[in-house]
Amino acid sequence: MAEQTTASASPRAPANQPRISAKAMTFTESVIREMTRLALVHGAVNLAQGFPDFSCPQELKDAAKAAIDADVNQYAITWGAAEFRAEIAAKVARTYPGWTVDPEREICVTCGSTEAMIATMLALVDPGDEVIMFDPYYENYGPDTILSGAVPKLVRLHAPDWSIDPAELRAAFSDRTRAIILNTPHNPTGKVLRREELELVAELCQRHDTLVFTDEIYEHIQYLGPGGHIPPATIPGLEDRTVTINALSKTYAVTGWRVGWTIAPPAYTSAIRKVHDFLTVGAAAPLQAGGVAAMRLPAEYYTGLAEQYRARRDLLCASLTATGFTFRPPDGAYYVMCDTRAIDPAGDDVALTRRMITEVGVAAVPGSSFFANPADGRHIIRFGYPKRHETLRAAADRLTGLAQLIG
Ligand SMILES: Cc1ncc(COP(=O)(O)O)c(C=O)c1O
Repeated sequence: MAEQTTASASPRAPANQPRISAKAMTFTESVIREMTRLALVHGAVNLAQGFPDFSCPQELKDAAKAAIDADVNQYAITWGAAEFRAEIAAKVARTYPGWTVDPEREICVTCGSTEAMIATMLALVDPGDEVIMFDPYYENYGPDTILSGAVPKLVRLHAPDWSIDPAELRAAFSDRTRAIILNTPHNPTGKVLRREELELVAELCQRHDTLVFTDEIYEHIQYLGPGGHIPPATIPGLEDRTVTINALSKTYAVTGWRVGWTIAPPAYTSAIRKVHDFLTVGAAAPLQAGGVAAMRLPAEYYTGLAEQYRARRDLLCASLTATGFTFRPPDGAYYVMCDTRAIDPAGDDVALTRRMITEVGVAAVPGSSFFANPADGRHIIRFGYPKRHETLRAAADRLTGLAQLIG
């Protein structure tokens, strides 16, 4: 466990440079999105940023187009169109029997899960409050803690199976712990939190009166079978202290729509709704109509989704093994964290990913961008596979060039 210090530092702008806020100076541009730009310039197959290169379900497109034609083009209710919230609650009840969500008081529709997380942090965390995060983590959570003034407390996920050391987790909690951020299935490691792990979180959160902010954007993309994903909000002791964050982005292949939501007890939801209102007013009204269609998709859609992703995972993993990477196949989400030691003994993940883009034609993300201490990720790069089989095969063909590059 280590404490991240960057959030509390207050850097100064170098002389002769326009002044920007200390907060904005503290974090850099997204490395993942930078890799995407570089991939475009060099015509590389983009296995860096996690967006699908295949179509979303037709039902979503039809519903969104019909909504535009029907003049659903003005502001929706700031915390989400009533029909969309009702359908989110209905889908939750169908998927997780026993979990009841009141759409009138417990849901706030946001601009993607990105806004859901920052709105939650700004609504429920005060500057100086400690927030526990697992390390490595999805890069947005770093700036989220900086923008909200939270002090991150990091708990290591231990390779190769990304396990949690219960003693380290216990040691991270104190009476200053306001919240713990969970992400299951997890980006970047593919870890899916098991019941025992969630029960330990529940025990500690109750003891220290801590909230849970859980990012479940990969809820349906997991390879453990039915019941593999357990929403923390369904664990006894966490029902009244959990903010569940989700979005249309990954499950329905519409990352560009920017539609997400929070589910939380009424008092927390009304604080999140207030913050959300002044951050963005609301998510796009016609796309919330698309969301209604998404929520009405049958159960088979989700089993098909998991099967398709399993096939994509296996295709990519086979070519990564052939290339000489070592890794643990992910249990969920759609990323593979590869150990690069056999290929890049020097351990310069940034140089390796740049050369892969410019000389091999495949984009991945340097592992250092997922760790509080970048050195912890220097022997790792992350590949994503929300891609058509032909894209993954093209990447596999190009990866054969990596051996020559290194050799
Ligand atoms: C864990 C996690 N949370 C959130 C997001 C962003 O979600 P959205 O597009 O809904 O803002 C991503 C995207 O890669 C992610 O991996």
